[in-house]
Amino acid sequence: MATSPSSKPPAIRIEGLTKDFALTLRGLKLRAVDNLDLTVKENQVFGLLGPNGSGKSTTIKVILGLLEPTFGSCEIFGIPSNNVRSRMDVGYLPEAPYFYRYLNGEELVRFYGRICQVPKDRLEDRVAEVLEWVGLKDAARRRVGTYSKGMLQRVGLAQALVHDPRLILLDEPTAGVDPVGSAEISELILKLKDAGKTILLCSHLLAQVEGICDEIAILNRGRLVLEGDLKSLVSERHRNAVMVENLPAGLEKELGAWLEAKGARLVGIETPRTTLDRIFLEHIGYRKEQGSSRQVDENIARSDAGKPEAS
Ligand SMILES: Nc1ncnc2c1ncn2[C@@H]1O[C@H](COP(=O)(O)OP(=O)(O)O)[C@@H](O)[C@H]1O
Ligand SMILES: [Mg+2]
Repeated sequence: MATSPSSKPPAIRIEGLTKDFALTLRGLKLRAVDNLDLTVKENQVFGLLGPNGSGKSTTIKVILGLLEPTFGSCEIFGIPSNNVRSRMDVGYLPEAPYFYRYLNGEELVRFYGRICQVPKDRLEDRVAEVLEWVGLKDAARRRVGTYSKGMLQRVGLAQALVHDPRLILLDEPTAGVDPVGSAEISELILKLKDAGKTILLCSHLLAQVEGICDEIAILNRGRLVLEGDLKSLVSERHRNAVMVENLPAGLEKELGAWLEAKGARLVGIETPRTTLDRIFLEHIGYRKEQGSSRQVDENIARSDAGKPEAS
């Protein structure tokens, strides 16, 4: 691979990755990923998009070294994925996380912290810190078996972050999470980026991706169909929007004629729209600065108040 000794390797480099799954003993195969080249630069939020079955989760599993590629190769910060060392600095939230349900949230995150070799003297602070980040501070002593889908995603995020990894792979982090939870997870992802981390995010929630990703790649049937800088992909460079308040009725024609005289063309006048997401968040009183401090499932927490802790 063409990395000169002085240049820093990217967070992820995938070259010519193909992954086939054997479907029958007679040799029928399914090509889940087809000759994929992808580079994720350090300190970016990278969105890996695509419809169901397009090969996103398979790609993530190959990056992590959980699956062997059929052809091609993959590196994390310059270390091949089949080398265990490449995984030391990676946090992973699986698509459908399965956690031991009899542990409480705190115990579960502590357990992963130990596996990931968080130093003993830092472990307790670190567990408390990540549980606070993901908004589970108040539910930390509840058994994971009683968590809602959104809370399971949050505790999954907490375990992915407990060892302070440089690269974080999130496979559908907002699946089953309500809009407030999604907004908070987006904020958390941006916070991680500010702290210098690299995040690879798999999702089909395009509105969320659009708000936080620097670059995206779209897969379809295992093939890369589009890749690039998100801002340049979505901007219509030859067009400009001018926002006007209180435009007097009947002025449109005059405006159009004036613009035409200057060699431009008035394409249309429309009323700007907000998004349903924004309306929803405003109406339930969500403010950005609240961050992840929201108590999850507040109604449950209230009805629990005063009762002894379930063990
Ligand atoms: N272990 C497996 N055995 C056989 N086929 C699989 C396996 N894992 C995934 N696939 C198939 O590979 C394709 C890509 O799956 P996946 O990577 O999970 O897609 P995505 O995450 O984009 O929804 C799908 O057709 C899926 O059914
Ligand atoms: Mg998937």
